[in-house]
This record gives sequence, structure tokens and C-alpha cells, in this order.
Amino acid sequence: MLPGNSADLDPLTVIAIRQGTDKWGAHFYTPIYHSLLAPLRSKPVRLLEIGVGGYASKYLGGGSLAMWAEYFEHGQIFGIDLHEKQLDLGERVTIFQGSQDDRAFLERIVRQHGPFDVIIDDGSHIPVHVVASFQALFPSLVTGGLYIVEDTQTAYWASHDGTADGAATMSLARDILKGLNHREIAEVDPAYVAPAYAASIRSLRAYHNLLVFEKGDNTEPSDRSYDLRHPRAALALQSLAAAVGTSPTPRAVAFFTNFLIPMGRFDEALELVEWHLRLSPTSLDLLVAGYNVSASAGRFERANGYLRRALALAPDDRWLRGLTNAKL
Ligand SMILES: C[S@@+](CC[C@H](N)C(=O)[O-])C[C@H]1O[C@@H](n2cnc3c(N)ncnc32)[C@H](O)[C@@H]1O
Repeated sequence: MLPGNSADLDPLTVIAIRQGTDKWGAHFYTPIYHSLLAPLRSKPVRLLEIGVGGYASKYLGGGSLAMWAEYFEHGQIFGIDLHEKQLDLGERVTIFQGSQDDRAFLERIVRQHGPFDVIIDDGSHIPVHVVASFQALFPSLVTGGLYIVEDTQTAYWASHDGTADGAATMSLARDILKGLNHREIAEVDPAYVAPAYAASIRSLRAYHNLLVFEKGDNTEPSDRSYDLRHPRAALALQSLAAAVGTSPTPRAVAFFTNFLIPMGRFDEALELVEWHLRLSPTSLDLLVAGYNVSASAGRFERANGYLRRALALAPDDRWLRGLTNAKL
């Protein structure tokens, strides 16, 4: 919801107005930033922003760095600009002079001051620079950290070497979206070579003129080649088993049996289904689970028995009637 009046503004936007950054007014980023960063506010956040502001002026700029220092009371704020800056923004703000496409320069900053919780690219907005900075800096984000690219409209502007298809900036966004789905693409295209960062892209959010890449584990198995050895899958199985062991609903039991089938634990699954059918004899979920487990185990007589019972309860269910025609 848009704020109705200035009294409804979020705290970051209020600070942005005071510190004079274009992140609010010319752009509308601060409410988005606040929605993403509020949980980190009291933490000793390390934030790196490319683009201090003020361009070639030594004494102008620094609005967003001052804003971040005020917002993150315990934060360490680092700024990068192509031009020399002499700004007194307090001892928690440090500025480095250099270009965002100078990999050695960026890596020096990372070595000396990384890792970072938040990295913002508000520098030249030249697409190849955006990509160069991402490649050099994304590895230095902590797990759970955010990498944000501002003013992506420039990717379409000829004045910034942009093109109608969004140039290298949007190509990066597309590659990241593909990287996010690297497990699924590998299922259908074994020749696909995922970029190195693919396993650590947790999410991609795209707003008007703003891209947000979240770093985090992206190694979950595809559901087409489910792997119970994966820690997240193992945790899911463990939590489902625990719930089934305490006070499960028939639907929860039926769902749980889906995990026992690929492990070949057919007898255990059928025992569970039978036990719960005694308590809930009219549960369609349990009858269909019984059908699935039996059919997967090749016990077709038994599968048909469950199906007959299910059809007696729901004779008009077209999907169930379709199962009768399926080759058992
Ligand atoms: C839009 S301003 C930054 C505004 C500031 N972040 C704020 O929100 O208040 C962009 C800045 O990026 C700097 N810049 C331009 N090209 C750069 C490059 N290649 N590397 C680093 N900084 C660059 C400019 O000098 C300028 O000060």
C-alpha cells in the first residue's frame, strides 16, 4: 500500500529525506529497502555502496552513506566512488576511490573489509560495469546477504550503453534467474553449465528499476530427482515423520507415504495407511495413498481394493474413475 501522507512514511524514508539522497523522491527505493533490511537494523551490519554521489566534486555527495550510517546504528558503512571525496560522515563511514570495473581494486576492499551483509550498486549504471562489479563482489556477501542493483532503467538507455533488450544488466538478471533454477534445467538439458554463483543464489527480486539478489543455499534437489540425503530434504522427512508419529491428520499420513515409496518402504507405508484407515475409514486421502503405495509395489490386487473403496465413497469423481482405466 502506498503511504497516504508523509506521517505514514517508513523510518528509512524519513532519514533519506533528511540526508538528501535520491533513493527517495527521484526514485522510490527506500520503502523497499526498509522492507528488506528492517530485520538487520540493530545488527553490526557491514554495507558497501558503489557510488557516493556528488560526481567529480570532492565535497559533494554522501547522502546515502549518511542515511545508512543513521539507519544502522551499529553498522560499518563503506562507499566507493570514481572520484576523490573529502566528506566527514563520521568514523563508521569509510570511502575508497576507484572504479567499479577495476577487479583488483574491488578485491582489495573485500580482502581488507569484507565480508559484507549488503552490497549496493549505485555507481556508473553502465551495464558492463554492473556485471563486472557483481562478479567481483557477490562472492564477498555473507550467506543471507543482499546484492542490490539500482537504476536498472539505464540498461535500456543508449546514453549508458544500454540496449532495447536491457544489455548486460538484464542478461545478468536472466542468467541469475536461470541459475536459481539450475537443478531443474540440468534435469532437461544435461549440457547446461550453471555459473559458479548458481548454487548460492537464494532468491531474485525484481522491482521497477531495482534488482535484489539474495545469497544463500541453492542446492535443493529437483523434485524430479528428489534426494533425501540433502539436508533440507532430510529435515523435511524428519519433521513429517515426527508429525505423523504424534497427532497426524489423514492427509498428513497420506502425504508422508509419498516419501516412503521411493525408499521402497512399502510395508511400513501400508501398515501406516491401514492403521489410520481404522480411525478414519472414509478418508479418500488414505485410500488413494493405499492405492499409490500398492501400485508402486506392484501389488495390483490390493491397489484395486483401495480404489474400489474410494470409488464407493466418491462415485462421481472423474479422476478416480480415470484410475480404474489406468493400466495396473
Ligand atoms: C547516482 S550517484 C550516487 C548517489 C548516492 N549513492 C546516493 O544515493 O546518494 C553515482 C555516483 O557514482 C559515481 N561513479 C560513476 N562511475 C563510477 C565508477 N566507474 N566507479 C565508481 N563510481 C562511479 C559517480 O561519481 C557518482 O558520484
